[in-house]
Amino acid sequence: MDLAQKILQLKKEKKAVILAHNYQRPEIQDIADYVGDSIELSRKAVEEKDAQMIVFSAVDFMAESAAILNPDKKVLLPCLGARCPMAQMLTVDEIKRAKAQYPGAPVVLYVNTLASCKAQCDVCCTSANAVEVIKTLEADTILFGPDSNLAQYVSEKTGKTLIPIPQNGFCPTHLLFQPEDVKVLKIQHPDATVMVHPECSSEMRAVSDFIGSTSKMCRYAKESSAKDFIVGTEEGILHRLRKENPDKKFYIAYEGAICPNMKLTTLDRLYIALKEEKHVVKVPEAVTKNARASLERMFQV
Ligand code: 13P
Ligand code: SF4
Repeated sequence: MDLAQKILQLKKEKKAVILAHNYQRPEIQDIADYVGDSIELSRKAVEEKDAQMIVFSAVDFMAESAAILNPDKKVLLPCLGARCPMAQMLTVDEIKRAKAQYPGAPVVLYVNTLASCKAQCDVCCTSANAVEVIKTLEADTILFGPDSNLAQYVSEKTGKTLIPIPQNGFCPTHLLFQPEDVKVLKIQHPDATVMVHPECSSEMRAVSDFIGSTSKMCRYAKESSAKDFIVGTEEGILHRLRKENPDKKFYIAYEGAICPNMKLTTLDRLYIALKEEKHVVKVPEAVTKNARASLERMFQV
């Protein structure tokens, strides 16, 4: 039996479900029960009523959200080191300071945050629903963190003032994309459609035809009549895009756009995690209730 078969057998025995983010390694995506963006995976974790265990092949904040939303299930993160550096850029103290500076301004946090921060906000959002979440709020001035690029994008889309907390939170992987590279690729593939993630810079958004979350990009590529696509997000998504659209061509806007944290989940680590039932994601009780309320408010939108 190869490793993949061993994982599938163990998964059956333990009534486990494997959820994988669109940036995971191809072999992890291929073995997963479901591959999606951050909000789809959170939703899936709740919908899988019969599952006793969720193996969350992604990074810390996504697995934490699943644990918050599913207190009865065992949520495993195959590699403990898989942490999103952007989520680490915002602290509870920073949120408290911003609240004191802008009294009455609602706080909206991207799901790429620590659970302790989620417990301090009014509502969460993902890149798939950030514009809609902000539109539902009456306020015109909103504290938003930790991604300052997403804050700027949502502000442009809604006409509201989004105060970024911290001032310059960013994703180190999406920061690597540069419009010059897109221009060169456009010379080579003049008919290509450019899709970028809202974590990219405003300069990258300016050279794009479509801006959306990872799964929105997958949907857009499927429904579009275009045959060539230049992709401005982590390279792991190419596996899904190519699998779902064998007749279309996908070019990454920068070859080095790799999220090292997302790649920490390997088949070996996933196998051991499932076999030894580690690493169980635990969220302190003191923050669970408020963090869950912020996530549930997002689902209502
Ligand atoms: P998505 O919700 O679009 O999958 O994005 C999550 C993420 O971490 C992007 O870097
Ligand atoms: Fe975090 Fe960026 Fe990696 Fe997404 S791609 S998990 S935002 S570091």
